[in-house]
Amino acid sequence: MTTRTDRSAAPEPRGGVDSTRFPADFLWGVATSAYQIEGAAFEDGRTASIWDTFSRVPGAVFGGHNGDTACDHYHRMPEDVALIAGLGVDSYRFSLSWPRIQPGGRGPANQRGLAFYDRLVDQLLARDILPWITLYHWDLPQQLEDDGGWPARDTAHRFADFAEIAMSALGDRVRWWTTLNEPWCSAMLGYETGRHAPGRQDFGDAMSAVHHLLLGHGLATQRLRETAPEPIQVGITLNTTHAIAASGSAVDRDAARRADGLGTRVYTDPLIRGSYPADVVDDLAVRGVRLPVQDGDLAVIAQPLDFLGVNYYTSHVFSGTDEHGSELVDGLPVSRTVSQNLPVTAMDWEIIPQGLTDMLVRLGRDYPAVPLYVTENGAAFDDRPGADGGVDDADRTAYFAEHVEAVAAARDAGADVRGYFAWSLMDNFEWGYGYEKRFGIVHVDYETQRRTVKQSGRWFSENIRRSREAETGPLDNDR
Ligand code: FCB
Repeated sequence: MTTRTDRSAAPEPRGGVDSTRFPADFLWGVATSAYQIEGAAFEDGRTASIWDTFSRVPGAVFGGHNGDTACDHYHRMPEDVALIAGLGVDSYRFSLSWPRIQPGGRGPANQRGLAFYDRLVDQLLARDILPWITLYHWDLPQQLEDDGGWPARDTAHRFADFAEIAMSALGDRVRWWTTLNEPWCSAMLGYETGRHAPGRQDFGDAMSAVHHLLLGHGLATQRLRETAPEPIQVGITLNTTHAIAASGSAVDRDAARRADGLGTRVYTDPLIRGSYPADVVDDLAVRGVRLPVQDGDLAVIAQPLDFLGVNYYTSHVFSGTDEHGSELVDGLPVSRTVSQNLPVTAMDWEIIPQGLTDMLVRLGRDYPAVPLYVTENGAAFDDRPGADGGVDDADRTAYFAEHVEAVAAARDAGADVRGYFAWSLMDNFEWGYGYEKRFGIVHVDYETQRRTVKQSGRWFSENIRRSREAETGPLDNDR
């Protein structure tokens, strides 16, 4: 486990990463999602998503912020594509807004909404940047939530229809498709804790949502492959939980097993092995919950994956007792996260690069033959912009350097990791935290919408350049 004491003492980021450890075809990218950056929330036929509704609930989002304007990317897209190109990345991971493309989540496509993504894809390709599409990054059309949301089986079928619309418009040019981003967040934060849209609080509904999200993934994957005009690569992105037991005691190890079950294996097992883990099914039964599995569902869910996307920010240590030493609370076994007193980001997330290495190695070992991509990794810090809006974010830069190094270590240990996307291209709407938390490698001044590349952005660019140079030999600067 990496420990560090005083982060602020480091005046300049370490160049740190040995770039020769990444092959020339390793994919370097930056990532965003539609609701977090686009704005133009009600333009060109777009209807409300669950986040438009949720962000208007008093107290739901910090400062009452919402995505109405966000980074105004919808109107500034060409400028943003130029910014991405300037960073020298290979790929841009972005998501499609379902209620922009198919208002209400049913029926025909909205051509004006599709036209935006059509232009975005063309602009990226014109600059030699690979478009990497996520179909669903949390902005469910509100109308589908009104009809039951993800706990309702029909939503999975609606998602497959949406996937087909997207494929028919963009499939001639886009090869990389991700169905869902972090279904754990959609299900558990959306329907169990209520901290994310739609803000419901029912564990049984959350577990129904898990199953229907996975079913939606399977149905959409089938539909994408059936309708793709060109060969495509299809996968899913998970925020797998790296669960560490607080001690070797049986009760702590069981708490970590349960956290791993609900955070990782309840997704990876059905997706890759075609079955739900028996211990998770048993744990759910203890809580009186049954996954709403129908005949044939698991075969649909277990479509071959061309890749697995992994989002990583931190790891968690689990104890099986509460603060008073009890193993049961309200009759249920305790799973409590305990701090390791490591340095944290502005999200209060502990900085644990070793967890990324361990998670990638473990996924590669337990689910071999599925190529891995780190589809998000990054950190929020309380940036202090200079007069030009630029930010000397040595803390974020160090975070990236350590985690890129952690990816190299995972590759050395045999994990088939083929790419890395920084979260995020630019500061944006950080869900329940609104615009308060900044994850960008580019600073956004929300008053003027001015973008300024931070030190971490310059480091990321430079790292990519060096890793290419290591493979091809120094570039001739005069060319
Ligand atoms: C992930 C989300 C992404 C962003 C980062 C910080 O869980 O996928 O949209 O909010 O966390």
